[in-house]
Amino acid sequence: MIRSLTMGLCALSFAACGAMAHPNEGGHGSTVAALPVGTCMNMGNMLEPAQEGSWGGAPIVAADFARIGAAGFDTVRIPVRWHNKTSQEAPWTVDEAWMDRVQTVVDQALAADLNVILNSHHFDPIHEDPLAVAQWHGAVWKQIAERFAGYPEDTLWFELENEPHGQFDHSNLLATLTPALEAVRATHPTRAVIVGGENWSGIDSLATLPLPDDPNVHPTFHYYDPFVFTHQGAGWVGPDIPPPGRTFPTKEDRAQLAEDVEKVRAYVARTGKTPFMGETGAYDRHISTADRAAYHRTVREAFAPTGIGMCVWAYANTFPFWDRDSGEWLPGMRASLGLAEED
Ligand code: BGC
Repeated sequence: MIRSLTMGLCALSFAACGAMAHPNEGGHGSTVAALPVGTCMNMGNMLEPAQEGSWGGAPIVAADFARIGAAGFDTVRIPVRWHNKTSQEAPWTVDEAWMDRVQTVVDQALAADLNVILNSHHFDPIHEDPLAVAQWHGAVWKQIAERFAGYPEDTLWFELENEPHGQFDHSNLLATLTPALEAVRATHPTRAVIVGGENWSGIDSLATLPLPDDPNVHPTFHYYDPFVFTHQGAGWVGPDIPPPGRTFPTKEDRAQLAEDVEKVRAYVARTGKTPFMGETGAYDRHISTADRAAYHRTVREAFAPTGIGMCVWAYANTFPFWDRDSGEWLPGMRASLGLAEED
């Protein structure tokens, strides 16, 4: 998950380079309205493990969304693993019970008056061999698009793939996502579709993020910087697990944060599109709740003048805001986002 900037090349297909708002063209004719993400909660580690519940925690229920809505959140992002829920060859039929389960969860969130970002998360093979997996991934999105036909456009948004990494980078991003986008556009010509860049969608990916020439495709990035603070002791990022003990913010961290805010400003000025922060957070194993809250407050206050939406990681099963054991919001976490602490 450590990010390094790789210069992206225009993708091969997707209506060819010429039709795209290529990141290096510079300038833009108009400004596209930002997605109204606002204050947003990730339903992390719930529908994204190999099987629901296999990373612990508890299944999502309607009361979770009622609680999140009552706390003042505008949007929920629902990460979903699909690749192991399909037949293994064309037409890659998604298991009906899984599609039903996802639809139930989306319905619950919409019923709580929350905007919903529904994504594909951990589609593991796509990061290893993107172009070979593109049709499979597109077939899944065709089925998602069909299932959610007729859903309100202003509140349900599709994010094609979480955190491209490995072989999935800006040189093949658009070609790889073309089948998915075409499948969605066949039945949802104007629904908001979200695309994040290479290297785990870190903030530096914005500089070279290629997007199709489509006003309803919105850019996103993730912000876990400094990674050595937010992921200290995080076993899943091995082999180079950041050691515990790193504090935040150092003087250098503050300078870096200010630079990162400028990257968002530069992106908006250059492209006319406003990205949103789809994930940000700090792992709770070695970082106290007070220090996690301070991280969220510092990041939020720094980026707030840009007007971007921010989705925190995550509700309850990892990097928690809500404590299942006590049945309470963790102290200071809502306030760190500018929300009231009272119930
Ligand atoms: C991953 C999660 C992980 C989180 C923080 C997300 O993008 O999908 O599994 O817990 O990042 O590292």
